[in-house]
Amino acid sequence: MYKSLLTFPLWVALLGAPVASATDAANTEGLFKEHCAGCHGTTRTGAMGPALLPENLSRLRKKEAIEVIGHGRAATQMPAFSEKLTTAQIASLADLIYTAPPVSPAWTIDDIRTSQVIYHPEGSLPDKPKYQADLQNLFIVVELGDHSATLLNGDTFEPIHRFKTRFALHGGPKYSPDGRYVYFASRDGWISKYDIYNMEFVAEVRAAINTRNLAVSYDGKYAIVGNYLPHNLVILDTRDLSPVKVINVEDEAGTSSRVSAVYTAPPRQSFIAALKDLKEVWEIPYDNNPEFKVRRIKVDDYLDDFFFDPSYKHLIGASRDSDDGQVVDMDAGKKTHTVDLAGMPHLGSGITWEYQGKPILATPNLKEGQISFIDMTTWKVIKRIETKGPGFFMRSHENTPYAWVDVFFGPNKDLMHIIDKRTLEIVKTLQPAPGKTAAHVEFTQDGKYALMSIWDMDGAVVVYDANTFEEIKRIPMKKPSGKYNVFNKTTYSRGTSH
Ligand code: HEC
Repeated sequence: MYKSLLTFPLWVALLGAPVASATDAANTEGLFKEHCAGCHGTTRTGAMGPALLPENLSRLRKKEAIEVIGHGRAATQMPAFSEKLTTAQIASLADLIYTAPPVSPAWTIDDIRTSQVIYHPEGSLPDKPKYQADLQNLFIVVELGDHSATLLNGDTFEPIHRFKTRFALHGGPKYSPDGRYVYFASRDGWISKYDIYNMEFVAEVRAAINTRNLAVSYDGKYAIVGNYLPHNLVILDTRDLSPVKVINVEDEAGTSSRVSAVYTAPPRQSFIAALKDLKEVWEIPYDNNPEFKVRRIKVDDYLDDFFFDPSYKHLIGASRDSDDGQVVDMDAGKKTHTVDLAGMPHLGSGITWEYQGKPILATPNLKEGQISFIDMTTWKVIKRIETKGPGFFMRSHENTPYAWVDVFFGPNKDLMHIIDKRTLEIVKTLQPAPGKTAAHVEFTQDGKYALMSIWDMDGAVVVYDANTFEEIKRIPMKKPSGKYNVFNKTTYSRGTSH
């Protein structure tokens, strides 16, 4: 337990002046309670400001945190403390927020229920869109730069509406099967349901303290949220985001695990979860399974990233420490093949197509400048090609002969390769904005145009003709990350991840 708050002023009084010693945890706790807790929560789980726990801060370097505490963050409510606190005090606060609390904060189903906000009850908003557009060819573009999203017309490439999201969205937003609603998950566990026709949030709930991603069932009835904190999966009723069930993630011996990611497997009518700390894959059927009983599939190694073949009969997973991938037969519930995968393939971003009459899987690699092509009938790597650096996203579309892959990491992050799916060769390398990360391509419904992110505060979505690679339009955006086409996502296009 922490030292009691009450002892703190006495302690300070005895010393005569506030003394900051990075080693004095109680003093730092006191500073936090005095200056930060009002906005970030007494247990650091977040309030008006974001959660400040190590899991939540994994994308912010400590150096940057020190900068933010000292100087605040422009155009936000985060104030500057360099006038009020010494450099040593700021450093000790930074140390504190990167340290896990002695007791992991809880977030129960009652906390989830209490957090729920319903802005517009089901059926209270009109069923007719407030604008004219092809509703299947809309895009939602997530702009991480200022925690916003843009609803984009996929025919004219004109933004229809721009709105604020929760702080730091995490994992791709997911559509309802009819494309009317989109569900967002934030780093701090907030799930928001947005009505695309009326351009309004309809409900929100805080499902966890630190969330990885969310998936929506094929029938549209349930959303499932995969979490790092607490170690659980939360099932929500998509009508108003009420919690239906919290599934604690632990093995039969009671060892708990974080959830790396959760997916929906349409032909199986189930959700499938990848676990970070257990050698198991979980399948949770949502049809005829009112208790959401879990089917555990034991695997040889931790699988924190994986890919399904289009039938969802096989799962191919990559392990953290091994060069081998595992192929799991989902019906038999066991591993059937090993795939020779060097480095760290990003299977979650893999795509499939027919090559010389066979289905193949192509995946970039997070550690090496390399694309692997795997024959999905034999599970052998049939080819590897070199790229200008490790990639993150690979994308294509049924109607284009090309696959686009970024060079997300390293000095060549401003390049984008285009691969011919018929020859498995790079045919073009684009550099849309020198020095700025070019990433994440998504296609229009018909596959004729490719939209690419310039992942920068002074960024853009660049629209290309997908056949000639000619630039058509540049739409300014603030650090656009992913963009999501309603049709391609709701029809589970083989050229995009789900
Ligand atoms: C008046 C409310 C308020 C107070 C007081 C406050 N913060 Fe913040 N803080 C915020 C908000 C809001 C943000 C999110 C800013 C943004 O949108 O980028 C934030 C962001 C941060 C971040 C960056 C988090 C991230 O993931 O990018 C850190 C670190 C932080 N605050 C630390 C502190 C510390 C330490 C204190 C106390 C010394 C403190 N804050 C006091 C409101 C506050």
